Amino acid sequence: MNIVDIIRKKRDGGELGTEEIQFFVDGITSGSIPDYQASAFAMAVFFQGMSARETADLTLAMAKSGELMDLSAIPGVKVDKHSTGGVADTTTLILAPLVASAGVPVAKMSGRGLGHTGGTVDKLESIPGYRTELSSAEFIEIVKKVGVSVIGQSKNLAPADKVLYALRDVTATIESIPLIASSIMSKKIAAGADAIVLDVKVGKGAFLKDLDTAGRLARTMVQIGRDVGRETVACLTDMNRPLGDAIGNSLEVLEAVEVLKGGGPERLKEICLVLGSQMLILANKGELDSGEARRILERKLASGEALETFVSWVKAQGGDPAVAEYPEEVLPLAPKYPVQAATSGYVSTMEPLQLGLVALELGAGRHRKDDAIDPGVGIKMQVTLGDKVEAGETLAWVYARSPEAALKAAQGVQEAVGISGAPPKELPLIYQVIS
Ligand code: URA
Ligand code: CA
Repeated sequence: MNIVDIIRKKRDGGELGTEEIQFFVDGITSGSIPDYQASAFAMAVFFQGMSARETADLTLAMAKSGELMDLSAIPGVKVDKHSTGGVADTTTLILAPLVASAGVPVAKMSGRGLGHTGGTVDKLESIPGYRTELSSAEFIEIVKKVGVSVIGQSKNLAPADKVLYALRDVTATIESIPLIASSIMSKKIAAGADAIVLDVKVGKGAFLKDLDTAGRLARTMVQIGRDVGRETVACLTDMNRPLGDAIGNSLEVLEAVEVLKGGGPERLKEICLVLGSQMLILANKGELDSGEARRILERKLASGEALETFVSWVKAQGGDPAVAEYPEEVLPLAPKYPVQAATSGYVSTMEPLQLGLVALELGAGRHRKDDAIDPGVGIKMQVTLGDKVEAGETLAWVYARSPEAALKAAQGVQEAVGISGAPPKELPLIYQVIS
């Protein structure tokens, strides 16, 4: 087999065979196919697309290019969840213990933040002592004991995807539905999921801006799941405004604790109930309907069992369990400064991308993969869309390391929060559930 023939076949609109796709994936993993040919392949796929069969083959080949996590020692259906990335989205920190408290084992590998979106691993590392790197044996042991463990992605998880994704990033070939779908699904499969719930974000603060494209991506991933025997459900959810009120690592842990204690932003709680219900349904193989699943989760929240599971989980991974009781004392937090409304009116826009970038500039995120982050900085909104505010009222707090950084961030927040004479039209939180 010859890589030039494979590239040419795809370039001319042909359908690649399973062996040809395997040859390509083996070659990029070992390095025998150089970057320029891998990039040309990506561009050919970008223009010609891939059939469902080719996409499933690419997904499985990339999943198997490295270590496959074996979760079979954990009894039950292991359901993973993935989000395409949002702002003020601390869902995993709530969802993982919530679903675990309802008897569904959660063995999850999460990513770090990049650009304006946050990452679960960074958030967890703001809890003093919490270890995000565990051996597989320890990871599995904790899931068996407390029902949930969340760690960083192992270095050898889907290495073919690492190579291809890095090349796509610098060759304008990210925006291809089969390439995105196979990239995401290969990592979930390699991480050992039996079933997968996807949160595909749509809107100004999301990777995908329009409902049409996001819907196509979601359906492609659900189809891959079906083709490779991992039942997959995708929820299309809104990211035209931040999901919760907190942006920044410690602040998002704090917000997760608030929700687990029965408070916190309504939309954040709602998305956890919706995604969590789907996880329960998949884990129980269709014996629950969404109403029943939701009521179970509501009871676990109200009874405090979800919070108890959170505490056991954090403790099992070396984190300070007092984070649940005294989060403001335990979590590192920078000094806070108020952001005031410049005019009176209704909060009519809250630009998620801009707010994410303000948090990034404060030090909550990274420009490049190896940048260090500051867990204590960020933004805590004090108003939400549709609120009536008076000039001078506090819109938000910015947590910053210097008065200069705070001033710049405050200006950024003021620009990102629109105030107008009329209340805005509410967008739905959940656009569609695709199964
Ligand atoms: N996220 C991924 O993991 N892969 C892509 O290709 C795009 C977004
Ligand atoms: Ca996120």
